[in-house]
Amino acid sequence: MATMTGDVQLLESRHVLQTYRRQPLTLVRGEGVRLFDAEGQEYLDLLSGIGVASLGHAHRGLADALADQARTLLHTSNLFFHPLQGQLAERLAHLSGLQRAFFCNSGTEAVEACLKFARRYWFTLGETRTEIIALEQSFHGRTFGSLSVTSDEHYRRPFGPLLTGVKFIPVNDPAAVGAAVSSNTAAIIVEPLQGEGGVRPLTPAFAAAINEACERTGALLIADEVQSGLGRTGYPFYSAAIGLKPELVALGKALGGGVPVGAALVGEEVAATIAFGDHGSTYGGNLLACRAALCFLDELVGGGLIAHVGRVGRHVEQRLRAIAAQHPIVQEVRGAGLIWGLELTCDGAPVVAAALARRVIVNRTAETVIRLLPPLVITEVEADEALSRLDRALGDVETNPGPLS
Ligand SMILES: Cc1ncc(COP(=O)(O)O)c(C=O)c1O
Repeated sequence: MATMTGDVQLLESRHVLQTYRRQPLTLVRGEGVRLFDAEGQEYLDLLSGIGVASLGHAHRGLADALADQARTLLHTSNLFFHPLQGQLAERLAHLSGLQRAFFCNSGTEAVEACLKFARRYWFTLGETRTEIIALEQSFHGRTFGSLSVTSDEHYRRPFGPLLTGVKFIPVNDPAAVGAAVSSNTAAIIVEPLQGEGGVRPLTPAFAAAINEACERTGALLIADEVQSGLGRTGYPFYSAAIGLKPELVALGKALGGGVPVGAALVGEEVAATIAFGDHGSTYGGNLLACRAALCFLDELVGGGLIAHVGRVGRHVEQRLRAIAAQHPIVQEVRGAGLIWGLELTCDGAPVVAAALARRVIVNRTAETVIRLLPPLVITEVEADEALSRLDRALGDVETNPGPLS
């Protein structure tokens, strides 16, 4: 087995399909908000595997629960009942107000399920409404349905033709939503806080216009909370924070704490139009996935994690605004809770590299945005240490812009 960084990277370069441009770092171990590379070097993690390691790395409770579940029963398929799926669905119903859950294995599958359920709703009602409205700068995943409602041409162009009847409208433009949604619209899909598109929260005024357009025309509203949901913003769901009223919600990322779990939540009116056999997944909602998600929800709700995110998030925001004021290359700070974006005046790649050299992991999205998605359990002290390193990394890039910027 390859263990040293060079061997790992060589082996991958020979045999792994090259779809990812990875950072030159091989991570082998984690502990809370810390990650360790193959040489034992420690990094502070402000990304949590793109918003997934919600409880931090090697969380004792999650690790024990998964080990116990692995020793008991991992998987049965959806041909049979098991004790955990109903429990998880009930917990999600209490949190979201949407009565029913369909379980899958990723965010893109959750979006795909929502799109299918929206189509099925209108089919059952005997109406040929298939048009979907999505937002510019959206990201909903890479399968054909979710890619069809993702706006970035860079992701879409090589794979056409995609789903027809998808219209993109500008973000936070209430007039545009009013004009675009009609009695041909099957559904509107939005990220309440856009993640990949550059960390852009929707405004309450835009949310109100979306609600109004849906009420006026009967169009269904799908909230993609894959990145913004489950405590990330200091609220259970960012939809509720801005007053958005979805009938369908897509979840993923944080829900499994690192175990692949996705869920499509639907209200009873939509659920009543879905029949046996309409959708399915071999793995979706298996015992391991449900056990992980139940453990995460124990921490989120019973363990006070939402309040923790709110408190630490306010501290992080203050620190980020103070840091931004010191750095001419930082143009704007956007976000909520523990999802933040620093809009730069230049490409963000050199900042990511400089941060890595300072042993802090951040991510660039939408070319010019440095995105922070730390584990939800990060403390103020840990955040301070990580942000000081980021502060120095921004300074490094300003004094020595290098060939990339
Ligand atoms: C809002 C949103 N929806 C969907 C997805 C796709 O999720 P996954 O990569 O788990 O398929 C992502 C991933 O970044 C996302 O941010």
